[in-house]
Amino acid sequence: MSTSPDLALRRQRRFSATEFRDPVAFILAEHMEQHRLCGLLENLASDLAQPSAREIAADIVDYLTHELPLHEADEEADLFPLLKIRSIDIGMVDDILAQLSREHGRDDEFVAKLMSDLVAIASGIAVAVPLDFIVGALRFAETQRRHLDWENTVIVPIARRILGPGDLAALGRSMAARRGCAYPD
Ligand SMILES: [Fe+2]
Ligand SMILES: [Fe+2]
Repeated sequence: MSTSPDLALRRQRRFSATEFRDPVAFILAEHMEQHRLCGLLENLASDLAQPSAREIAADIVDYLTHELPLHEADEEADLFPLLKIRSIDIGMVDDILAQLSREHGRDDEFVAKLMSDLVAIASGIAVAVPLDFIVGALRFAETQRRHLDWENTVIVPIARRILGPGDLAALGRSMAARRGCAYPD
């Protein structure tokens, strides 16, 4: 199977320590990648027999396996707890964070349902029930885009406003460690 340039790029990705100096920018960049993921899911769902189906499915599997769990951990273990501590005066933040955490759990369920079909497509094997895969892929893409909108338009601006230099350093340090990368001194 040939490898798409995007896939080859990400599999070779090595994080630069300086990326973690601005952990909120890092999170925003991951959100851009997740929008790209949604586009790949919608593209694949539109035509499972397209010539590039195997490459697209492999690209999706790669992101869901290696990147999305790290990003969810960044938010669940680091960003959201920090915001809960710092945003005492900002109404509704706890409710929004609770909703986003529930959606992370729901994402894991979506991924579990889609993964075997994605691996099959990436291997050139036809999925057993194409309509199930198509519906699941489109629903995942739709709900993921809504999730990203909330994080980009509500959570990121709050983080930019209320997290101080010490908070950002702690966040960046933890995110770097999660990826086996040294934090720049
Ligand atoms: Fe996110
Ligand atoms: Fe999230």
